[in-house]
Amino acid sequence: MPKTFRCHLFWCGHDREDQEKPSCARRGSPDIGKQLKQEMRDRGLRNEVAVTKSGCLGQCSVGPAMIVYPEGTWYKVENMEDAREILDCHLENGNVVDRLVIRD
Ligand code: FES
Repeated sequence: MPKTFRCHLFWCGHDREDQEKPSCARRGSPDIGKQLKQEMRDRGLRNEVAVTKSGCLGQCSVGPAMIVYPEGTWYKVENMEDAREILDCHLENGNVVDRLVIRD
């Protein structure tokens, strides 16, 4: 039986070489994603919260983009300080971080 997680965070690792359109990898998402995954391990959350690299999430103009399920909350995450706030508030305690939410 597949493992079930309490929530799942996808971070965009898409790298667009032509640079006609922005991409999250060019704005630092790979470093943030790797550090976030390590923090999850350090906090012992790896069996509760999945962190997965994704392709383009369609939020290129405002990224680096992340989305947290099951809520489907979109975030703009520019640095590890932002990522830690999402980890502390949303992933550990279920509270959305309003200041980082990507809105329509
Ligand atoms: S490149 Fe990240 S959302 Fe499109």
